[in-house]
Amino acid sequence: SNPATPSDFDVSKIVQEDRVHGSVYTSPEIFQREMDTIFRTGWVYVAHDSEVSEPGDYLTRRIGSEPVVVSHGKDGEIRVLLNRCSHRANKLCNAEKGNASSFRCPYHGWTFSNTGSLTAVPMREGYGEAFRAVRSELGMAEAPRVDSYGGFIFASLAADGPSLTEHLGGSIAAFDRLLNLSPTGQIDLRANWMKHLHHANWKMVVENNVDGYHALFTHASVYDAIRPAKVSHIPSKTDVVVRDIGGGHSEIDYSAEYRKLDEEFIWYGRMPRAKLPKYVAALEKKYGEEKAHDSLVVGPPHTLIWPNLFLAEMNVMYVEPIGPDETVAYTTAALIPGQDELNLRTLRRSEGAMGPAGFLIADDGEIGMRNQAGLAAKDPEWLRLSRGLETDITDETGIVNSDKSAETPQRGFYRQWASVVGQEISK
Ligand code: FES
Ligand code: FE
Repeated sequence: SNPATPSDFDVSKIVQEDRVHGSVYTSPEIFQREMDTIFRTGWVYVAHDSEVSEPGDYLTRRIGSEPVVVSHGKDGEIRVLLNRCSHRANKLCNAEKGNASSFRCPYHGWTFSNTGSLTAVPMREGYGEAFRAVRSELGMAEAPRVDSYGGFIFASLAADGPSLTEHLGGSIAAFDRLLNLSPTGQIDLRANWMKHLHHANWKMVVENNVDGYHALFTHASVYDAIRPAKVSHIPSKTDVVVRDIGGGHSEIDYSAEYRKLDEEFIWYGRMPRAKLPKYVAALEKKYGEEKAHDSLVVGPPHTLIWPNLFLAEMNVMYVEPIGPDETVAYTTAALIPGQDELNLRTLRRSEGAMGPAGFLIADDGEIGMRNQAGLAAKDPEWLRLSRGLETDITDETGIVNSDKSAETPQRGFYRQWASVVGQEISK
C-alpha cells in the first residue's frame, strides 16, 4: 500500500535510525505531505530585512508550494501576503521584486494595497449590496506569523506552534557567528540571488550541503586545480567536525582546523588579510585585537537551518521544492555594509562556487541528477545513513558531534523529518 495515504501512513516504514527509504525522494504523495506538514506548520525563511528596507519594497517568494509576496507596507509593517487574488485565485504579483504602492491582478484588475487590503474593483456597478457587505474581507490572505532574527525574516502559515526563537534553537549561534563578522553587526543580502535548477529532490540538495563525505570525489577537479604542488594528499583525518544541533539543524564546523592556519589569511584561510586593512582595522576596533583575530581566522559558519536555509561561509542559500525531482536553489553573498573591498572578493568567490558557471554547484547539481535518476530507474530501495553512527559523541548540551565525513547531520535531519511529516494532517 502507499505509505503516504493519510489513513495508513507509517513514517517508521520509510525512515529509520540508519537508513531512509528511496521513496522519500521520489513519491509525489510524500512530497505533498511535506508541503502540508513541514512547509505549512513550521517556520520558513522568506527574505532578509535589507531586501525590503523601504516602504513599498516587495519580493515574491514561496513557502513550500504557496506563492507569497513579502511586502513592506506603507504603514511600515512587513507582511507575508499570499500571492493570490481573492476574485478567481489568479497569481497577483508576477514580478520578482520591486517597489509599489499596490498590486493589480492581471486577470480582471482587482487592486490591493501593499498592506493587502482590496482597494479597487473595476466596473463595480456590476456588484450589489451582498458583495459590498463582504468586500472588506476580500483582502490578500496573510501568513499568520512573521518574525525575524538578525534581519532574516521567517514566516509560518500556521497560527500556532513554537516561536521562531524556539524553532531556531541551537542554530542561533550560527546567525550570530555570521553577524559578528560585521563591524556594524549587520549584513546585506541585496546582491541578487543566483538560481540553480536541480533535477533532484529538495532533500538531496539540502543534505548535500552538510555532507562532508563527498567533496574529495564530487569536487575532485577543484581539488586538483587548487591543491598546492607541495601537498601530495589531502588528509582524511582532520579536526573538522559535523554536528547535529537538534531540531533538524546541523553543521560542518571547520573552525578547529582553520585555527591552525597561517595568520596572514582569514576566513577558512581563503582571504589574504594584508589586502583588507580597512576591514581588519574595523573588526579590531570593535572587538579588540585578540577576539578580532579569532573571528577573522575562524570565519563564518556552515550551518543548515531546518528545513531549507543554509549559512555557508559568506553564502546564504535557500532551497525551494518544486516537485519530487525538481528543486531550485537560490544563493547570494552576504555583504558587509561599508566594506567594499571585502565585498568584491566575497562576490567573486560566491559566483565562482555557486554562480551560473560555479564549480561547486555544477558538480553537486550533476551528482544530484544522477542520484535522482538512480532512484527512478528501479524500485525504490533503502539508502544508508549509518556512517559515524558508532562514533558519534553526544555532549552535555545534547549536541551530537562526529568526524567530518559522518552522516550525523543527515540523521538529525531525518529525525526531525519523521517527527514533522509523521504527524496527523488536519485538512
Ligand atoms: Fe484577479 Fe479576477 S482573478 S481580478
Ligand atoms: Fe558539494
